[in-house]
Amino acid sequence: MNIVIVGPGAVGSLWACKLHQAGHSVSLWGTQTSQQWKLAIDDLPETVFAYNQQQDLINADLLLVTVKAWQVKAALTPLLRDISKDAILLFMHNGMGAVDEIAELISAYPTVIATTTHGALKTCAHHVKHTGVGQTQLGAYNSKGEQCTFLVDVFNHALPSVSWNPDIQHALWNKLAINCAINPLTAIHQCLNGTLAEERFRPTLNAIIGELVAVMKSEQIPVEQNQLITTVNNVIQATSTNKSSMHQDIFYHRQTEIDFITGYLVRKAQQHNINVPTNIELYKQIKLLEQNGKHHD
Ligand code: PAF
Repeated sequence: MNIVIVGPGAVGSLWACKLHQAGHSVSLWGTQTSQQWKLAIDDLPETVFAYNQQQDLINADLLLVTVKAWQVKAALTPLLRDISKDAILLFMHNGMGAVDEIAELISAYPTVIATTTHGALKTCAHHVKHTGVGQTQLGAYNSKGEQCTFLVDVFNHALPSVSWNPDIQHALWNKLAINCAINPLTAIHQCLNGTLAEERFRPTLNAIIGELVAVMKSEQIPVEQNQLITTVNNVIQATSTNKSSMHQDIFYHRQTEIDFITGYLVRKAQQHNINVPTNIELYKQIKLLEQNGKHHD
C-alpha cells in the first residue's frame, strides 16, 4: 500500500519502520522543512523515507495520523484537498474527541480509529526504540470505515498483534479511563506511574474511577467498578518505571492531552448531568500547570 504517516513521533515512527519492513511504500509528513527523513528502529540500519512529498499524498491509499489529539484538526485539514476520497484515514492517538471535531470534514473518507498499547520512545529525531510489545485494536469510525477490516492483515503483518474491534468505542473508553487515572496525577506529582500504587493515592484513584464508571455507564459502555480498579492497578504495575506522557509534557512545558482525556470525560459528564468533582479538580490543576509553563510547540 502507499502509506503516509502524518506526525512521525514515537508511535508514528514505530509504524513507519514496521510497515516499510513489511514491504509497503511509506512516506512521512511532518513539520520539518526537509524532503527526506532518515529513521532507524532499535539496532537496525537507517531507512531514508520521503518527507512532505505532495505526490505521495495524492497517491496515498492510507493516511496513518499519529499526531497528538490536540494537533489532529490543524495537521489534517490542509492535507485533505490533495487526498483521494478513496484513501483511508486511520487515527491513532491517546484520548477521545479529536476525530469528532473534524467528523463533517472527513465524512467522505473511510475512517478507522486505532488504539495501541505498544511502547515507543524517540531517542533522537532519527531513531525510535520499541520499548514494549503491545496490542493494537482497529475499529470503524464511519460506515465506509466498516469496509476496512482487511487492514487487520496489513497491520498484523507489520507489527502483531492487531485485531478488529466492532465496539472500538469500548476499547477507547477503557484506554481513556486508564489515562484519566494515571496521567494527571503523575503529571501533578511529577512521579513515576508506579508511585500511584502507594496507599496515599488510593482515595483519589477510587474517586476518579467512581466518576468514570458513572459516565461510562451513561454512555452505554459496559463497565464494572472493581474490574476497572483492577485494570488501572495492573497498568500502574506493568508501567511502574514509566513517566506518563502527561508527566513528560508538563516537565518539558509542552501542551498536554488533558482536553481529550479528563476534559473529554468532564464534557460527557456535563451532557449527562453527572457530578465529577475529582476529575474537574485534576483538569483545573493541569490547565494551571500548562499555563505556568511556556509551550515549546
Ligand atoms: O499516556 C501514557 O503515558 C500511557 O498511555 C500510559 C498507559 C498511562 C502509560 O504511561
